[in-house]
Amino acid sequence: MSETQFDLVIRRALVATASDTFLSDIGIRDGVIEQLGRNIAAGKKEIDAAGRTVTPGGVDGHCHLDQPVPAPLRMADNFETGTRSAACGGTTTVIPFAVQEKGHCLQDAVDDYHRRAKDRAHVDYAFHLIVSDPTPDVLERELPRLIAEGYSSFKIYMTYDDLKLNDGQILDVLDTAKKHNALVMVHAENADCIEWLTKRLEAAGNTAPRFHGHSRPMLVEREATHRAIALSELVDVPILIVHVSGREAVEQIRWARGHGLNIFAETCPQYLFLSAEDMGVDNSYVGAKCVCSPPPRDKGNQDVIWAALAEGLFTVFSSDHAPFNYEGLDGKHPDGQEMPFRYVPNGIPGLETRMPLLYSEGVLKGRITVNKFVELTSTNAAKAYGLHPRKGTIAIGSDADLVIWEERDTEIKNTMLHHATDYTPYEGIKLKAWPAMTLCAGEVVWDGKDFQPRLGKGRFLQCSAPSLLPKK
Ligand code: URP
Ligand code: ZN
Ligand code: ZN
Repeated sequence: MSETQFDLVIRRALVATASDTFLSDIGIRDGVIEQLGRNIAAGKKEIDAAGRTVTPGGVDGHCHLDQPVPAPLRMADNFETGTRSAACGGTTTVIPFAVQEKGHCLQDAVDDYHRRAKDRAHVDYAFHLIVSDPTPDVLERELPRLIAEGYSSFKIYMTYDDLKLNDGQILDVLDTAKKHNALVMVHAENADCIEWLTKRLEAAGNTAPRFHGHSRPMLVEREATHRAIALSELVDVPILIVHVSGREAVEQIRWARGHGLNIFAETCPQYLFLSAEDMGVDNSYVGAKCVCSPPPRDKGNQDVIWAALAEGLFTVFSSDHAPFNYEGLDGKHPDGQEMPFRYVPNGIPGLETRMPLLYSEGVLKGRITVNKFVELTSTNAAKAYGLHPRKGTIAIGSDADLVIWEERDTEIKNTMLHHATDYTPYEGIKLKAWPAMTLCAGEVVWDGKDFQPRLGKGRFLQCSAPSLLPKK
C-alpha cells in the first residue's frame, strides 16, 4: 500500500464551510483532516458522499448535562446519554457548564464536573464555568488560573436566586474577563420584575404552566439585555447574550451593534419552533414540557428571530438543552403533581434536534444559506469558545468531525431520539433532512440508522482565548 493511504476517504462531498461550498474528497488520518481535493489517494475505508452536503460537526456551545440541581430534581441526561443524542443529531462537540455553588470555589465545581464527564463522553467536550459567587479570591486568583488552564468562557445570571449577580458583581466579572481575555455569556432577565410578577400571578391563583410566560414578558428580557449591554460598554469588553427570544431583545442588540459595541448573541430552536401556546392555551399542565427561560414568545417573534438569523445579528445557534423528565419524581410533573409554575424546572431538551431543525427549516426552505448554517451551528461557537480551527470547520489539520446530510422526510418523535429525557417539545414536527452520518475524529458515531458508541473516546478540550474578540 502506498504511504499516502488514508484511514478514511470521503469521496465527492459537497463540502460546506462558513465561507465556501466546493466539491472535494476528504482524506482523514489519525482523526484529523489531512487532505482536501479531487481524486486523492485511496483510504483503508471509503465513503461515497456524491450528491450530499458535508458540513463540520456541530459545536453546541450551550447545553446542560448532569448539572447538579437541588433534589429531588435531576437532569435526565448525563455525559453518556447527552453526547449520544448530540452525535445522532450531528453535534460532535458539546460545551456544558461547571457551576459554582455560592459559598464554594470554582475549582470544586470543575473537579466535580470532570468526575461526571470522565470516560462517559461519546464526542468531544469542553466546559464553560458559571460564576455565581465572584469573591475577590475567585476574581483575582481562581478565574485567571482557570482561564489559563482552558476554561475561557463563563456564564453569569441576572436572575435565579441561587445564581444571580447584582450589577456591581457583573462589572467585576466583566473586568476580570477583559483582563484575562475570556468571554462572558449573559442570561439577561430582570430578577426583581420576575419575582414581583410571579407573586401577583400567584395571589390571583394563576399558577398553571402558561403563566410562566406571563411572569417573564419580553420587557423583563429587554431591560436586562439593555443593562447587560450598558455594563459591557462601561467595562469596554465584549459579551455574548444567550438565548435571545424575540423582537425587543433583538432591537437592543441591533442598537448596540449600531453604536459600535461588541455584543454577540445566541438564539435557540425554541424561539423559532415553539410559542407561548405550547406552554398551554388553557390551564393544562402538559405545557410544563415547554417551560424554559426566557419563555417561547409568539409567531411574530419567531419571524423576527428568523430574520435576525439571516441578517447576521446572531453569532451562534445553540440548543440550551436543559433536560428534565416530564414524568417521574425528579422532573416537571413529580409523582403526577401539578406544581405551580414557580416550581417547574426551567429548560427543555434539544441537543439532537438542533441541527436538523435548522438545516431543514432554515437551509432547505431558503431562509439561510448553508454557509450561514455552518457559521451558526459550528464555526462561530468554535471561535467564540477558543476551539477554532481544530473544531468548527473543514480544513487541513482540523479534527475530522463531519456531518453528511441527507434530504429525507423525518417526523420528530421522542421514540427515535437518543437522549434519556422522556419527551421532546418538537414531537410531530415534520422535517426534510437528517444526518445520514456523523463522524467524530474520523469515526462513524451515527450511521443514519444506528448510534455507534464511542464511550469514553470523547476528549476534554482546553479552550484558548476566544478568536471572535478583537486582538489586543
Ligand atoms: O430555561 C432554561 N433556559 N434553563 C436552562 C438554564 C439556562 O438559564 O440556560
Ligand atoms: Zn440561561
Ligand atoms: Zn442554558
